[in-house]
Amino acid sequence: MKKVFVSLEYPGEAVGRLAGKYNVVVFREERLPTRKELLEGAAGSSAVISTVADAIDKEFIDLLPDLRIVSNCGVGYENVDVAYATERGVMVTNTPNVLTETTADLAWALMISVARRVVEADTYVRSGKFKTWHPSLLMGRNVHGKTLGVFGMGRIGSAVARRAAGFGMRVLYHNRRRTEASEKETGAEYAEFPRLLEESDFVVIASPLNEGTRGRFGAEEFRKMKRGAIIVNVGRGPIIKEAELAAALEEGAIWGAGLDVYEKEPEIHPGLPGLPNTVLLPHIGSAARETREDMIDMAVTSVELALDGKTPEHLVNPGVLENLK
Ligand code: DGY
Repeated sequence: MKKVFVSLEYPGEAVGRLAGKYNVVVFREERLPTRKELLEGAAGSSAVISTVADAIDKEFIDLLPDLRIVSNCGVGYENVDVAYATERGVMVTNTPNVLTETTADLAWALMISVARRVVEADTYVRSGKFKTWHPSLLMGRNVHGKTLGVFGMGRIGSAVARRAAGFGMRVLYHNRRRTEASEKETGAEYAEFPRLLEESDFVVIASPLNEGTRGRFGAEEFRKMKRGAIIVNVGRGPIIKEAELAAALEEGAIWGAGLDVYEKEPEIHPGLPGLPNTVLLPHIGSAARETREDMIDMAVTSVELALDGKTPEHLVNPGVLENLK
């Protein structure tokens, strides 16, 4: 019986579909597997269902001679050495689409929470400080009517932009390439990167991590932004130079930040948690029950297809088809 290793336990019934047909081994701890646990758990597998936190590198792939598919449960897959997997005839799949709207919702939760100081206000009430209404108590900034700048106009960026219509916002976006379909869908206007920084009241990062986006936001970019601007990151942590963000927030170069992802996740730059103008979340962009069930369902379907000798729909390395074992 072929072995399938699942590197974490997921909600829903999808993984159960594999039982009986395959030898399914699930890492059931409520924490990530260590490197040793990952390698030992996956040994002998034909399929692995992994997460963004698992390094599926050359060493990992070389240790699994029967490996046919790495089904990464998430839209991002920068944790997988895709080029090497392709060379070794290993399919790599991800779980796009099902998490788009959920992640866009969270970007808005961050925008509104930072602008209207929701978390700070909640802490204020819970700590018994709310004694009287006062006109200048916990004043924030408006969201409606402002300019939203979306960095990375892919599926999630477009979904973030679409929501802006309800808030009467102007939307700018910056992307590697102009995307006319998104412009039509959202009414967003393409802006060169400096203009996006200079004119946006909210900058939302929704791009994947690649050599073009790594470290793209640092001191110089924060200086170009409006002093009242808020930056939100639901893409990948290393797109922002976190130490430089902490300094910019401290100095008041920008007004606030809402982060769901971090440069050296799960570590957070020590300058950030002490700042009241930040809202910091533990990478929960797609963490809605229905969405997580849809993600694992998609990841399991990819495994079923690959092990049946078929081509999964969300193959990120189609070049592998020429190298299949
Ligand atoms: C994704 O889907 O990429 C999420 O960030 C979880 O990895």
